[in-house]
Amino acid sequence: MQQVIIAKDLQYTYESGKRKIEALKGVDFSVKEGEIFGFIGPNGAGKTTTIKLLLGILNPQQGALSVFGQAPTDPKTRQTVGYMPEIADYYRYLTPKELLIMYGNIFGISKNVLHERIEKLLNLVDLEESSGRLMRTFSKGMMQKVSFAQALINDPDLLILDEPTSGLDPVSRKRTREVIQDLKEKGKTIFFSSHELSEVELISDRIGVLYKGELLDSGSAKDLLGGKEEGQSLESYFLKIIGEKR
Ligand SMILES: Nc1ncnc2c1ncn2[C@@H]1O[C@H](COP(=O)(O)OP(=O)(O)O)[C@@H](O)[C@H]1O
Ligand SMILES: [Mg+2]
Repeated sequence: MQQVIIAKDLQYTYESGKRKIEALKGVDFSVKEGEIFGFIGPNGAGKTTTIKLLLGILNPQQGALSVFGQAPTDPKTRQTVGYMPEIADYYRYLTPKELLIMYGNIFGISKNVLHERIEKLLNLVDLEESSGRLMRTFSKGMMQKVSFAQALINDPDLLILDEPTSGLDPVSRKRTREVIQDLKEKGKTIFFSSHELSEVELISDRIGVLYKGELLDSGSAKDLLGGKEEGQSLESYFLKIIGEKR
């Protein structure tokens, strides 16, 4: 199986004034085609920084990163990647439909394909009834749905989701998980971050545990628990390895 993401010794330090914040201290992981990879870690662990590197918004200061065998900044790579940001902050005087048309145009999608795709996506995220309303009136959960649809507008082979279920009610969470599973079944690769273990455990083929810029462990939920006491939950395992680092 093809490796979609290969990250080796990723390092990134922010410098704000005199302060240096080592967000990533040498992170290694890889994600295979068709895999759902859950990136778990508490706030400030470095998840969003990793995602910005994967998107080519930031460049690694050390180490190497490839997406579909290319640099993340490669225009061809960008065409095949979909991204849902942590905070869905779109221009709210647009309707979801107008926003999706705008993104579709950025990707150069032809008009007919785009209109058909937008209908499907609005349906998928359960927004068809609000598709003509200004987003000004939308709740956080509704904005998350718009954001999810936006991430899929270019029919990406790799979907990168930064905390996709935060702010969603349980029904919408479940729906999001189902959509992610469906995408996997279609052969798509999904990389998503979360600080909620239960969420990650439910759908990930493999999990990477990030803490203070270091990848503490990675593998399937079973691998992570392998060799540990019977009946231990992923949550208690997580608290334990974080505790060991303190
Ligand atoms: N633009 C920035 N400038 C300075 N520090 C930043 C910036 N973005 C993130 N950080 C810091 O880098 C660390 C990792 O942040 P982030 O990648 O956003 O973590 P996460 O997404 O896991 O919550 C945190 O300590 C955060 O405060
Ligand atoms: Mg984040």
